[in-house]
Amino acid sequence: MSEQAAVRRSLRALFSPRGCPDPYPHYAVLREHAPVARLPDGTVVVSRHADCDRMLRDPVFRVEDDEWIGRTWPEGREHHTVYSLMGEMVNQNSPHHERLRRLVSRAFTPRRVEGLRPAVTALVEQLLTGLAERAAPDRPVDFMAHFALPLPIAVIGELLGVPEEDRPWFAPRVQAVTSAIEQNLTGDALDRADEATSELWDRLGQLTELRRADPREDLVSTLIAVRDADGDRLTRRELLANLVLLYSAGYETTSNLLGNGLAVLLERPDLLARLRGEPDRVGAWVEEMLRFDPPIQIASRWAGEDTELGGESIARGTQVIALLAAANRDPRRHPDPDVFCPDRPPSRSLTFGAGAHYCLGAALARLEAQVAFPLLLKRFPSILPAGAGAARDRVTSLRGHTRLPVLLG
Ligand code: HEM
Repeated sequence: MSEQAAVRRSLRALFSPRGCPDPYPHYAVLREHAPVARLPDGTVVVSRHADCDRMLRDPVFRVEDDEWIGRTWPEGREHHTVYSLMGEMVNQNSPHHERLRRLVSRAFTPRRVEGLRPAVTALVEQLLTGLAERAAPDRPVDFMAHFALPLPIAVIGELLGVPEEDRPWFAPRVQAVTSAIEQNLTGDALDRADEATSELWDRLGQLTELRRADPREDLVSTLIAVRDADGDRLTRRELLANLVLLYSAGYETTSNLLGNGLAVLLERPDLLARLRGEPDRVGAWVEEMLRFDPPIQIASRWAGEDTELGGESIARGTQVIALLAAANRDPRRHPDPDVFCPDRPPSRSLTFGAGAHYCLGAALARLEAQVAFPLLLKRFPSILPAGAGAARDRVTSLRGHTRLPVLLG
């Protein structure tokens, strides 16, 4: 096959609406033969670390904000999902982005994240007990359904101050929003997300009213009260949109870190045994899990002016997609990139992005994984994959397992 044909085949596979179970060989084709590729609709796709990093850091590449929606899909604004998304900091550019990020960061501090450690540990222990109760020596249990999905949603509930009995209510609604984003905000998925967004706004609106009247120590109470040096504060729309963002940004992403990380260990019993023996080095292991098979595989921007990237001209208004997972396997940045190796020298991957929109919840995601893996391997030292059935899902952006059956031994 010619290089050009291989590139076309890889682009078709990666952006197919059916998803792509193993994108890594296709990323390698693009990185080597078409580092700045173009889709038939003109969208530019970059796959080398240097180009992805530049795209994320250079403000000429703007996130898909209200201006972009107005230009490409004005009627989209009638959807509650889009209205909510456009209030999120992740979909705003300078100077609105700085303002929102500054206000939310005043409440969502490293100290608050570290303060969650005891609660995360208790939740992990509780879920591990639940796994043990469900499984038997010859009866597998699904790690995704009974551990990786419930943990992050419970942790966000804890962070925000959602009462324990209300927490399970959030999971299907947040999933409906994420799934619509995955399907480019089209069809039935968008209708379901609109309904879910309205319900989330109602419920989170009630919670904010309760906390306004009777503040606690939680993030919702702090966000209501937060003001910057000029006395500026979040509006109701900004508050509710960014509470939904915390839920949607922190839920399935972290679930997939847990699932993708465990999947690597299950394929390599030598690694599993080694991590069990060095729980104090779990930080380096989690970094390598994040690099090796990231939960979010792409980030998207549009060029605010005529510019260049990777030596190619990019016209104003062009959409640009950075393949973060391809960048994480770029041999120019990470030697022997296809080998999982927890001994790598610290060298940040692009899993949490870079620049102004660098993930606000990175420390929380790391904390959850760093607490979960040592306790999981301590409780179930002979955990095994339970045959086939570890279904892979990668539609456009999120990559993870729909199911990950394990035998706990
Ligand atoms: C392993 C888990 C996670 C991954 C892989 C991840 C990844 C990312 C990435 C790639 C971005 C940047 C998007 C862009 O530049 O377009 C981002 C932004 C963000 N993430 Fe995460 N994230 C994770 C967990 C979390 C958690 C637990 C939270 C909070 C509860 C969170 C909250 C946010 C927020 C608020 C932003 C927007 C920041 C901004 O626009 O300034 N994330 N995340």
